[in-house]
Amino acid sequence: MDKLFNVAVAGATGAVGNQMIACLEERDFPIKNLKLLATARSAGKKIRFKGEEIPVEELTETSFSGVDIGIFSAGGATSQKYGPVAAKDGCVVVDNSAAWRMDPEVPLVIPEVNPHAVARYSNKGIIANPNCSTIQMVVALAPIHRKVGIKRIVVSTYQAVSGTGKKAIDELHNQTKAVLDSLEPEKNVYPHRIAFNCLPQIDVFLENGYTKEEMKMVNETLKILEDDSIGITATTVRVPVFFGHSESVNIETRDPISPDEVRAILEDAQGVTVVDDPSKSIYPMPIDAAGRDDTFVGRIRADESVPNGINLWVVSDNIRKGAATNSVQIAEILAQDYLSK
Ligand code: A2P
Repeated sequence: MDKLFNVAVAGATGAVGNQMIACLEERDFPIKNLKLLATARSAGKKIRFKGEEIPVEELTETSFSGVDIGIFSAGGATSQKYGPVAAKDGCVVVDNSAAWRMDPEVPLVIPEVNPHAVARYSNKGIIANPNCSTIQMVVALAPIHRKVGIKRIVVSTYQAVSGTGKKAIDELHNQTKAVLDSLEPEKNVYPHRIAFNCLPQIDVFLENGYTKEEMKMVNETLKILEDDSIGITATTVRVPVFFGHSESVNIETRDPISPDEVRAILEDAQGVTVVDDPSKSIYPMPIDAAGRDDTFVGRIRADESVPNGINLWVVSDNIRKGAATNSVQIAEILAQDYLSK
């Protein structure tokens, strides 16, 4: 790929934005000019990219003129407002927020699973990046679904605080310190203390009793797999871990499959590493997944309580594959297959 692109990162000073910049550098994305955007509060702050100090600019209506690809992680409201503004200026938006994910005209893409959907970027000039907990689950399940069909998924998540952003990383750090020092921990981000605790609430509750995060896992999975017949139910839980989401995933398949066959399929699957040697206490853990791009799968075993049942334990770095890496991979497909011509 010889062509170079003008790229903007919206939300450049955030936890995901920072990682997006690192991913663009690590993967040597073909960049002509990199524009870093955030609020007026951050304007002038410098961020290092390929040995250069790039000043952050305030995101405004005119930020995207001359920009080819805009990678957004500045919250839903910002994407809702500025996504179409950028698209109108000819900038293709890769959006990490929930704002556009369920829009039928907007593709929702995991490069290992449905790269073909990128082609639909031209509908609105926007491509959506799925929710972090959806990405890692679907990276692990799509190859099994393709082989034997998945009938039902029951998932429970153990999600790191970094998914909520920088302020939540600080909150877990400060609360942990406060509790260990026998001080009253300050609570600003979550409805309850997160240090030494688990919160069975991620995002707001909906009328059906599920949280928004739980319904994102249901609806996004069906959209990405292009199959509405799968029954999915989710319980999402915030745990006092900084980086890396874990998931207990129980599936029922249409055709029979053994744990060994699942292991073989996943060993061949793109973006998956099988870590599964229980006799040596070897299984995926967030401390090992942090800073890496793969989805790690272990504890692969039969659910003996139902026909065709399989249990899996799925771990991935929510900021990397769950957000930044997946977005940059989408941008790579866009650049290589669609915008180079
Ligand atoms: P800023 O740092 O200037 O507030 P996180 O998810 O880690 O909290 O980061 C959110 C990111 O989105 C930050 O870079 C933040 O910038 C940016 N952001 C939030 N709201 C806006 C907005 N209205 N316009 C531009 N950037 C925004």
